[in-house]
Amino acid sequence: METPKQNHIDKNDFDHVYEPAEDSYLLIDALEKDLQYLKSKNPTFCLEVGSGSGIIITAFGMVFPKAVCFSTDINFKACSMSKSTAFQNNVMLETVNMDLGSCFIENKFDVILFNPPYVVTDSDECGSFDITASWAGGVKGREVTDRMLELIPKILTVDGTFYLLLIEDNIPSEVISIMAENGFSSDVVIKRRVRNEFQLVVKFFQDKTN
Ligand SMILES: C[S@@+](CC[C@H](N)C(=O)[O-])C[C@H]1O[C@@H](n2cnc3c(N)ncnc32)[C@H](O)[C@@H]1O
Repeated sequence: METPKQNHIDKNDFDHVYEPAEDSYLLIDALEKDLQYLKSKNPTFCLEVGSGSGIIITAFGMVFPKAVCFSTDINFKACSMSKSTAFQNNVMLETVNMDLGSCFIENKFDVILFNPPYVVTDSDECGSFDITASWAGGVKGREVTDRMLELIPKILTVDGTFYLLLIEDNIPSEVISIMAENGFSSDVVIKRRVRNEFQLVVKFFQDKTN
């Protein structure tokens, strides 16, 4: 997958919006690794939650030009940046400033992507609307992720796939169990050690169609 052009972004804007880092590129690498599978699914409606700069959903849209791409972010400045990243790379993207995908309850997506705020912090650091929301994950670094897990069965198509980035501190086995209780199978698509952090991307899908 091609890395989207980012030369339209002023470096100072990354004081307010998450700058693409190893985790962002690991999620893109996971999608690339799973490209054959994704192509076989011929996805139509795709959503990135917490899109930040927009490079992940833009990279996805470049490979799937017929897909209808949406992104959300709690940080309004991230929504603006995602929109312009998509535009500069000729990808059509609808961005919505909202909590997770909560306003999409009546809609279903074939592919959902999420690189969440995963750093273990105090709970009261969670829930901001600015750059802190990029990393503050609360207890186990999972407070935002766990809310997303509850939403997935409501907004993912039966045949859909959810890609989630986790670190070891998030206790991936617990996440996998929570999703299994809701009928989702899982595969670890890719994992990598980045300095002292172990990052992985897990994909979730419903058994009956895979
Ligand atoms: C680790 S950053 C990832 C940004 C981008 N997807 C990337 O990989 O480069 C997490 C992103 O999630 C957003 N975010 C945090 N909490 C959110 C929420 N409740 N709803 C929507 N977006 C949220 C943050 O503002 C931030 O842009």
